[in-house]
Amino acid sequence: MKSSTTLFATLAVAAFGFTSVHAADPSPKELQRVVNEAHARYKDLRDGKNADYIPILTKTPSELFGVVIATKDGKIYAAGDVDYKFSIQSVSKPFTAALVMTQQGPTVLEEKIGVEPTGLPFNSRLAIELYKEERSVNPLVNAGAIAAVSLVQASSEADRWNKVLGNISDFAGTPLTVLEDVYESEYTTAFGNRAIANLLYNYERLYSDPEEAMRVYTRQCSIGVSARDLAMMGATLANLGVNPLTRKRVMNANDVPELLAVMATAGFYDESGEWMYTAGLPAKTGVGGGIVAVVPGKFAIAAFSPRLNEAGNSVRSLNAIRDIAGELGVGVFGPNPR
Ligand code: DON
Repeated sequence: MKSSTTLFATLAVAAFGFTSVHAADPSPKELQRVVNEAHARYKDLRDGKNADYIPILTKTPSELFGVVIATKDGKIYAAGDVDYKFSIQSVSKPFTAALVMTQQGPTVLEEKIGVEPTGLPFNSRLAIELYKEERSVNPLVNAGAIAAVSLVQASSEADRWNKVLGNISDFAGTPLTVLEDVYESEYTTAFGNRAIANLLYNYERLYSDPEEAMRVYTRQCSIGVSARDLAMMGATLANLGVNPLTRKRVMNANDVPELLAVMATAGFYDESGEWMYTAGLPAKTGVGGGIVAVVPGKFAIAAFSPRLNEAGNSVRSLNAIRDIAGELGVGVFGPNPR
């Protein structure tokens, strides 16, 4: 199983060279045009529904929709509701995985979490039983993300939380805060995640007290971000780990290709294959309605809209980002035909 992921990472690295050398950089006018057009094309699409297993997410206005590109030098091209603060949810996961890689080196993900796509829903307990070696499977599903939080090197729970929040804020280039009502709503109903944390602890694949990991993980998912923030976080990955606004190095350049490989294979959960087939970009989704995709070495495309499909991915956001990737011809394996 490990060899297929290694192959994928190698292809992604090769593709990085391909896109940066051969694809012409789109002009500012073209970037603004594709953003405007994608927003206009999908603003009336009403497929899907708000997440409801976290009760408060049903209250996010479903009509909100924003699309934004942030380039590796910090330029923004935006349309719609790009400044509305919503909960980051699973879009946080690769960024905490990056923190763990920075603290302990990239092999820690393979050794202590896993890097295999599951082909199963994001909250699958079955995956923990099926993957008897990895258990938590990869840092982008709930199990692996809770394990990643537990792996953050910290002297106390407060220190663990400050490191997680500080790191995600550094990726965004601006101080972020928790949406406390989202935290309360999720933490008081998170019985499935609590089962996952305890199961991992039972299998010695959780590395802190389970309830501490639960609290910090749930707070991480409740951080408020805008689509603009998500785009800047993605642009930091596109810029090989340096935030385009603050110029702060947030992660090692050498770790970026491996992180993007996990985003490419698992960023859309059980829709990751379909996503890579049609959009061709490493990306991460969240049940708050946010998605960020990365064009390595160039820019990030982010979108926000609360209505989700069955896999928990924002319908308008995924359509908008996929179209923009196709129109600009920036898929990592070469231009996608649609
Ligand atoms: O743990 C959860 O279920 C949520 N805090 C995050 C799930 C999520 O965003 C899945 N993404 N599409």
